[in-house]
Amino acid sequence: MSILHELGTILLRKLPAENAHKLTIKALGKGLGPKSNTSTPSGLEVNVGGLSLPNPVGLAAGFDKDCEVSTPMLAAGFGFVECGTVTPLPQLGNPKPRLFRLVEDKAVVNRMGFNNAGLDKFKNNLEKRKLKNGLVGANLGANKNSKNRVEDYAVGLKALWGLSDYFTINISSPNTPGLRDLQNENAMDELLGRVSEVRAELTGDKPSFPIFLKVAPDLGLGEIERIVEQSRSYGINALIVSNTTIARPTSLKSRYKIEKGGLSGQPLFESSTEILRQFYAAAKGKIDLIGVGGVSNGLQAYEKIRAGASAVQIYSALVYEGPGLVNSINADLLLRLKADGFSSLTEAVGVD
Ligand SMILES: Cc1cc2nc3c(=O)[nH]c(=O)nc-3n(C[C@H](O)[C@H](O)[C@H](O)COP(=O)(O)O)c2cc1C
Repeated sequence: MSILHELGTILLRKLPAENAHKLTIKALGKGLGPKSNTSTPSGLEVNVGGLSLPNPVGLAAGFDKDCEVSTPMLAAGFGFVECGTVTPLPQLGNPKPRLFRLVEDKAVVNRMGFNNAGLDKFKNNLEKRKLKNGLVGANLGANKNSKNRVEDYAVGLKALWGLSDYFTINISSPNTPGLRDLQNENAMDELLGRVSEVRAELTGDKPSFPIFLKVAPDLGLGEIERIVEQSRSYGINALIVSNTTIARPTSLKSRYKIEKGGLSGQPLFESSTEILRQFYAAAKGKIDLIGVGGVSNGLQAYEKIRAGASAVQIYSALVYEGPGLVNSINADLLLRLKADGFSSLTEAVGVD
């Protein structure tokens, strides 16, 4: 990281969390983000659910809700950027404060509640992308007061089809009451049935776009096997494991641990990696996995890959380390793969 970026990150940490985030998005939009030489082959290329990634480190959903800074984040070295969650209509989200840094725990608690500018703005921002410098996904959600949540996902797919490189059906945010119920068997049948129907209509005889499903870390073994089977039967291309947790490990020290919402960052690493391992065992190589939760260095990215992830995503670590982190994770990953005698990243997926 350059001294300037390091200073910027330190200063941002002094601001209330949500203001710091807003300022970061503004600075990135003005071209003040770190730059990486993304045109050189990384030696870390990998295929995930039909996407060919230049490297396996992606930006997790929630950082760029309205898809304003995908270009600078790709320029910073991310292998893919997931924008959103976007809902059909704009919504304000929950009352502030709703984002908390648990500094002692290197964690974050958020109960943002899908604050976003809505599909029209998101679509406009995707259309404005002049420089197509990498892969951008759209993470879709439902409005809090929607009368038909399943249809909200269908509306999202229809509005953004052909504009984003992949889609994520997000049914795992803990901050929209009842959203996680869409992970239940009957609700998932209805939702994924509609998603595959809309996908078939939109695709016609052209190649389709990958559709991923993002799940919660708070799931039992029986649910994991069932979710894998249902996802496969409806043609979902990869599973993103996982969103934030509603659990509060007893190890937490920060006074903000009592705040309601989803916990992310370091305290999520172990549990989300364990769930990922269970998903890998259930998937038996038939559906790709993207590992998310507490990744903050190359070793942790490598552990997710060895546990079964073909790629990883990060968010909370950026709050503490800044966007330059992606390059050091990739550099470290490459060294670890070489040291263990793997000639490609794919060889390391699931070896543990
Ligand atoms: C402030 C904040 C907002 C988030 N918003 C979303 C969101 O809108 N949609 C989503 O799918 N995940 C969202 N997430 C979850 C992240 O994408 C990720 O799954 C989770 O934070 C675990 O990764 P991490 O430990 O690297 O942060 C959010 C996370 C944070 C910290």
